Amino acid sequence: MLYNTVLAHAIVTVLYLQTLALAAENSQTLLNADSIPPQPRQRPHRVAIIGAGAGGSSTSYYLQRFSQQHSLPCESTPIHITVFDSNPYVGGRTTTVNALDDSRYPVELGASIFVKINHILYNATRDFGLTASVKIYQSAPDSKYELGIWDGNDFVFKAEREDDEDRSSWRGWWDIAKLLWKYGLAPIRTRQATKKAVGEFLKFYEEPIFPFSSIGEAVDATGLHAYTGLTGKDVLQEARVGDLFSREIIQASTRVNYASNLGGIHGLETLVCMAIEGAMAIEDGNWHIFDEMVRSTADELFLNATVTDVVKDDKKGTFQLKTANEDINRRLTMEYSAEYDTVILAAPYQFANITFSPPLITVPQKIPYVSLYVTLFTSPHRLSPAFFGLDSQADVPLSVLTTLSLDLSDELGPRRGVDAVGPPGFWSISTLRVLHPKTDGVFCGPTSNCTELPAGAGADGSEEDTQYLYKIFSPAPLTGTFLSSLLGFQYSPEPESKHDDPLSRLPKSEITWLHEKHWHSYPYELPRTTFENFTLCSTESCSSHGISDGAYYLSGMESFISTMETSALAGMNVARLVVRDLHDEQELKELQSDMEL
Ligand SMILES: Cc1cc2nc3c(=O)[nH]c(=O)nc-3n(C[C@H](O)[C@H](O)[C@H](O)COP(=O)(O)OP(=O)(O)OC[C@H]3O[C@@H](n4cnc5c(N)ncnc54)[C@H](O)[C@@H]3O)c2cc1C
Ligand SMILES: *[C@@H]1O[C@H](CO)[C@@H](O)[C@H](O)[C@H]1NC(C)=O
Ligand SMILES: *[C@@H]1O[C@H](CO)[C@@H](O)[C@H](O)[C@H]1NC(C)=O
Ligand SMILES: *[C@@H]1O[C@H](CO)[C@@H](O)[C@H](O)[C@H]1NC(C)=O
Ligand SMILES: *[C@@H]1O[C@H](CO)[C@@H](O)[C@H](O)[C@H]1NC(C)=O
Ligand SMILES: *[C@@H]1O[C@H](CO)[C@@H](O)[C@H](O)[C@H]1NC(C)=O
Repeated sequence: MLYNTVLAHAIVTVLYLQTLALAAENSQTLLNADSIPPQPRQRPHRVAIIGAGAGGSSTSYYLQRFSQQHSLPCESTPIHITVFDSNPYVGGRTTTVNALDDSRYPVELGASIFVKINHILYNATRDFGLTASVKIYQSAPDSKYELGIWDGNDFVFKAEREDDEDRSSWRGWWDIAKLLWKYGLAPIRTRQATKKAVGEFLKFYEEPIFPFSSIGEAVDATGLHAYTGLTGKDVLQEARVGDLFSREIIQASTRVNYASNLGGIHGLETLVCMAIEGAMAIEDGNWHIFDEMVRSTADELFLNATVTDVVKDDKKGTFQLKTANEDINRRLTMEYSAEYDTVILAAPYQFANITFSPPLITVPQKIPYVSLYVTLFTSPHRLSPAFFGLDSQADVPLSVLTTLSLDLSDELGPRRGVDAVGPPGFWSISTLRVLHPKTDGVFCGPTSNCTELPAGAGADGSEEDTQYLYKIFSPAPLTGTFLSSLLGFQYSPEPESKHDDPLSRLPKSEITWLHEKHWHSYPYELPRTTFENFTLCSTESCSSHGISDGAYYLSGMESFISTMETSALAGMNVARLVVRDLHDEQELKELQSDMEL
């Protein structure tokens, strides 16, 4: 009996184990069968990114990185990324043109500088192996002053050039300010306030703040509303930065960076202007960062492709996109009926001109953008001392920033554009480079033929071969009369065209190359504590509970801070939100299927 019982038990056990094993095998096949949808391959999660500037490019880059880093134990849905841009290039407001139409001389037409604490740009520069230069300006060897600040009558400040060739020639306000007994503790207090604000801002990159679904909440949580809610003037006063330093130095900086006086820009953006330690730029153009980001991660990139319509299919929850380019539309519909699960608008809503249907419940508020004229040109002439009211032998600084006199600062402070620029008439003039087109970059090695160099042109370039490359920021187009007076050459426009005096009529011998660009460069950063969120909502549950409908928006970030880095941060943030939501959704599905089992 006992024996039998033991045997019986053994048999039962074996059978039981077998059953278990079988069951396990079965359940595995069952699970597999269940997690693979009926179609042969899993349909990827399709994302459309509208805009390939800093924001859209970074979204693509981090979407791919986050979706790889944070995969679930079970195989997660692959992400398929399509990027659209109306321009024929990647980069948006970050782009170069070639001075003298010569590829040896790329020059930034938009965003030109970022700083070392800009983690996204700095890391990308490193990870893509791009060459960053810390020497933002190349000085002309024979000039005494690197920089001057002009109020329309006088130079209120001049910085001598450094002769130490190893160091970057422009080393920031602090080196200069150190030398100055004139401003007392103001430079130190400015630096402290800047450090504090930057420290709070850096929390935006890390948990628990990151990722954030509302800029306003992140701003509150870090205490930065104390800076964004007030004008630069007020924040500096609170930090006990004296008026003289604020007006002569800091306002020159808000004018060159944001075309605003201290009364017309919020405190945080003001301090951003002073956070220029570790300034750098990518040698052949900052757009290389964004180009690398997109090309290394996007599955498809459509340039010359202006998106005109985003149509939501309420039943399927997907979006269809239409562009102004019929060829692209045909390709989209042919290949996959142009259907996307997620759409990300990475451009200011008010300029994107996209029709959403069904219409959005709340559209991003229209905000005033700065109308900025950028004039790039080359000329054999230097800046004329006479233009600045100096005697003919005086040295004119290589770069001239501008500010206002005491009384005008208060009066024009909150105004905009031509009404804010005051007596100087422009925001800034920079001498960017000295060019020697006949000899620059010509290498007379053993195999190359150097006889094409004209006789007399030495290796360092002859005088006739010297061209100065300038950049001017102004609130209105420059006139021929203005430029001839700035450079000190004779010119009078035809009498009948007194009111139409474009630069293009200037003689080629005086202005050897010209490129004019009108930008909506950045918002007027007026004090505020509320910001657009990252969702574009067409349903109540989205707009009142923040549950995304699948459409996201980046450019609300620009009212907080408008830089390449902050747009890229908005992109990285939305990428994390999208991947997080996708994983939550998958986890939910898996839980459901587990429960059904
Ligand atoms: C002259 C100038 C100087 C500046 N200096 C600096 C600086 O030194 N440092 C700094 O950090 N920042 C600077 N900035 C600001 C900086 O350029 C911007 O903050 C940043 O580049 C914005 O990036 P973004 O991706 O948000 O927008 P954008 O670069 O404007 O990108 C949006 C893209 O969307 C595309 N788009 C719009 N609508 C559609 C549509 N319907 N369909 C398809 N595509 C569409 C546009 O073509 C564009 O390429 C400067 C800007 C200017 C203009
Ligand atoms: C974009 O359009 C321009 C002008 O029509 C054309 O020259 C260029 O080749 C196009 N670029 C791309 C990438 O389609
Ligand atoms: C940048 O790189 C550093 C060092 O590799 C890393 O710790 C950090 O998380 C990166 N930041 C971003 C925003 O990619
Ligand atoms: C905006 O789009 C509409 C319709 O797609 C078009 O008619 C209009 O010209 C566009 N406006 C701008 C400023 O591009
Ligand atoms: C060098 O260039 C000159 C003028 O262009 C030409 O005449 C000559 O043959 C070239 N010499 C060689 C070695 O290529
Ligand atoms: C953004 O989201 C927050 C929190 O959900 C909400 O209180 C705020 O009203 C939203 N802002 C806008 C402009 O919709």
